[in-house]
Amino acid sequence: MRGSSPRVAGYETSPNIALIKYWGIRDPRLNLPFNSSVSVTLDRLRSRTVVRFDPKLSADRFRLNGTELSGGPWEDVHRFLDRVRELAGLEDAASVVSTNNFQTASGLASSASGFAALAGAATRAAGLDLPPRRLSQLARLGSGSACRSIFGGFVEWERGTRADGRDCYARPLFDEHHWPELVDVVAIVDGAPTKAVRSASAMQASVETSPEFASRQRELPARIVAVRRALRRRDWARLFPLIMEECDSFRRVCETTTPSLDYLTATSREVLEVVRETNAIAGEPVAGYTHDAGAHVHIFTLRRHAAGIRARVAGLRGVATTHLLHAGPGGRTVRVPARGTVA
Ligand code: DP6
Repeated sequence: MRGSSPRVAGYETSPNIALIKYWGIRDPRLNLPFNSSVSVTLDRLRSRTVVRFDPKLSADRFRLNGTELSGGPWEDVHRFLDRVRELAGLEDAASVVSTNNFQTASGLASSASGFAALAGAATRAAGLDLPPRRLSQLARLGSGSACRSIFGGFVEWERGTRADGRDCYARPLFDEHHWPELVDVVAIVDGAPTKAVRSASAMQASVETSPEFASRQRELPARIVAVRRALRRRDWARLFPLIMEECDSFRRVCETTTPSLDYLTATSREVLEVVRETNAIAGEPVAGYTHDAGAHVHIFTLRRHAAGIRARVAGLRGVATTHLLHAGPGGRTVRVPARGTVA
């Protein structure tokens, strides 16, 4: 069906940082993961997207942070819009205008918040009112980790077991108000390479070549149960060592992939060392680090330790800036100005 007038909607979501990592796809067509993962949706950072299906347009258009994109990123968005058009029985091309209030493709998970925002805006513009779980399944097709950014707070993406993916979706574990004492000190490091390859491709190299991949899969179910329990009990003394163990396991898989995947810079490694030292000096795990497929490091700690840790990390040569973040809200509709073009 072609519409007679433009249909427009806006949606906004925040990036998430995984405490248990998604790394490995068992079905690339449906983006079904090998393992479940757990994340925290962050506050303050956001991707905002406005989609306008317009009968006057001859092809999809995609503007990100003020720049008209073509090539790979455009194709990803176009493919995603095709799925939405198919669901809605719509034929119009769309203009997609998206802005991130943080660095794109930097390891701060812009593809997660980007595809989650696109899923929300495109479905609403197309007149589809999908419940959050369905929206998470749709977002997953754009970028796996995007399914988790539909929800706020602490989120689990269930791997599911069905071949059709119907039981593979994200669900909220605890909302963003569950643990106000928990903070995420993010160390943004200088010279972090811009992510050249989608994680989806990199992780498949790990599935095929890392000798550590299978043992990691065996360890994960117990670790997920332990992380869920530590979150429920707000048990930082258990949570922080667990997330470091998980991050180290993820990094071992990356490093033993052929060709080897190394996302960290020397400064990132120093940040990890600061966390280990801080815990050794305190005599208890007062903080835990994690990182995704990027060089920036997230340090989870309690509010009362945050200023001290932030100052130590900010003092390292090579740390460009630090952010102090908390668990944040899930996806939300944004009002679009009458012209409907500005995100
Ligand atoms: C290491 O789902 O972001 O962040 O969209 O292809 O880049 P692409 O994949 P994506 O991969 C996430 C990998 C990870 C772990 C995680 O977020 O669970």
